[in-house]
Amino acid sequence: MKKLTKAEIDLLLDKAQEARDHSYAPYSRYNVGAALLTADGQIYQGCNIENAGFTPTVCAERTAFFKAVYDGHRAFRAIAVIATGEEQGFPCGVCRQVMAEFCDKDFIIVTANRDRSKVDVSTFEQLLPHSFGPKDLGV
Ligand code: THU
Repeated sequence: MKKLTKAEIDLLLDKAQEARDHSYAPYSRYNVGAALLTADGQIYQGCNIENAGFTPTVCAERTAFFKAVYDGHRAFRAIAVIATGEEQGFPCGVCRQVMAEFCDKDFIIVTANRDRSKVDVSTFEQLLPHSFGPKDLGV
């Protein structure tokens, strides 16, 4: 799949940063925003939404994926994630498994720290090699 241009990366980071303002994180105070690019060029935004019961907390990445899947999207090109830490935060294991359901090995993951002074671009295969997915169940 086609690599992202610098302009596409910047736009996704802008959208992820905007999404971070919607974060509900009164417990961790670690706000995260995500912007997911569908194969047909649409962008879905997501934020982390925490819960006093802790377990129901959902990450920004999954919020974006589930909004897009609800709308009928099943193929994706890239996601940008921006958090509030000094260092960029990479997607957690649960979110990587959600990516395994819908993304190819060359799906792109852009991560940025608080002020975007640190930006990393990885592929899904780099973040979750030997993933378990639909192919393992013959789907
Ligand atoms: N979080 C995300 O939104 N994305 C990640 O990839 C890692 C963690 C959220 C979940 C929780 O609200 C907070 O960050 C602290 O774990």
